[in-house]
Amino acid sequence: MAKTKNLFYRADQFICMEQQKTSRIPEFYKKTIEERLSIVADFAGLTQEEVALLKNFGNLDPKIASSMIENVIGAMSYPFAVAVNFLINGRDYLVPMVLEEASVVAAASNAARVMRRDGGIKSKATQPVMIGQIQVVGVKDPWHKRMVVLEHKDEIIQRANEVDPVLVKFGGGARDVEARVVEGPRGPMLVVHLLVDVRDAMGANAVNTMAEKVAPIIERLTGGRVLLRIISNLADRRLVRSWVKVYKEDIGGEEVVDAIVEAWAFAAADPYRAATHNKGIMNGVIAVALATAQDHRAIEAGAHAYAARTGKYLPLSTWEKDRDGNLVGSLEMPMAVGTIGGATKVHPVAKVALKILGVKTATELAEVMGAVGLAQNFAALRALATEGIQRGHMRLHARNLAIMAGATGDIVDRVVEIMVSENKINFAYAQELVSKLSKEGRA
Ligand code: MEV
Repeated sequence: MAKTKNLFYRADQFICMEQQKTSRIPEFYKKTIEERLSIVADFAGLTQEEVALLKNFGNLDPKIASSMIENVIGAMSYPFAVAVNFLINGRDYLVPMVLEEASVVAAASNAARVMRRDGGIKSKATQPVMIGQIQVVGVKDPWHKRMVVLEHKDEIIQRANEVDPVLVKFGGGARDVEARVVEGPRGPMLVVHLLVDVRDAMGANAVNTMAEKVAPIIERLTGGRVLLRIISNLADRRLVRSWVKVYKEDIGGEEVVDAIVEAWAFAAADPYRAATHNKGIMNGVIAVALATAQDHRAIEAGAHAYAARTGKYLPLSTWEKDRDGNLVGSLEMPMAVGTIGGATKVHPVAKVALKILGVKTATELAEVMGAVGLAQNFAALRALATEGIQRGHMRLHARNLAIMAGATGDIVDRVVEIMVSENKINFAYAQELVSKLSKEGRA
């Protein structure tokens, strides 16, 4: 009886201990990586192997990791690949891509292969102009004050440019001021836009600082109260335009051209499809953004806001048939990327990625990324409109299974062929085939 009581007591105590776990950890950020990791390990019951896995920072120095974000306890590796065959504006590029999804790199490389004629994919970015927004509330006569702000454009631009003489020296800086009266749920507000040429930076830091600096002038001019002063990720003054002709004979004839145009028309008509169509574009764009350590959330936000700019969510690309029956594609989207500042200049692998790309400016990087987005989109539409996307995926899946089952050398390809042709793609069968083919090889 006493024993039972004791057991019950212990179980009760155990439950209490479990309940005492708290995520409220004062000054967690001040602790060392080791200390933080040990707290997390206790909290989550991590094994020694799991702790060791997190501790393996791979190609990222823990000091650099800690300078990038707060509360670091480890690092996580993603595959870094290179898409081949890209000819953009007459120049060859090897395109670094970081992502977790199979087929994307192979699809981009295959698409780029049929896009090499006539100098390859054409791509042109606009000037790297970003928008800083200044929200002014409590303005009784916003339409009138809009005029007053515009009248004082030069003063505002001059003050903004005092913030960043280096940017001005390199040919950038505040260029223009716009003012809008925006109707909101709490009535009209005045929104001032500061247009800044950010040159090779992504630009958030420069633009935010400038927007803060000019806020007192805006308050003086409008008599209102400035609230938000922040960059807009709808970077519609910093666009990339990419276009290409794909010859019908290179992709299976006019029937395939028609099917791709039909697939695009689906996206142009239906936002449910357009979201997936654009996701295919972003597969390429974001993979390059990750490899080069861009603010990919900003690119993603800008892309989808731009896709919805007319009030209807639309595809970012267009596919048509020209008078000779060839396929012509074009893409237009915001591309706020940088080659200086931020993680791009801090992460050692991002530096290598930029070296592999060999881009000289942020504008050139944007042009490459637009071209990759267009190629990726073509690859997806072609696969969907012809064989269906699953076949390629299943082939890659079969390859992964074969390797996991221990296949090496040419046995990998043979296992894949058998599984795909028999439409029997599973791990147990991969193991069976590997063992059978390996024995045959030894015999
Ligand atoms: C999958 O990651 C991307 C696709 O769904 C894109 C598309 O449907 O166009 C294949």
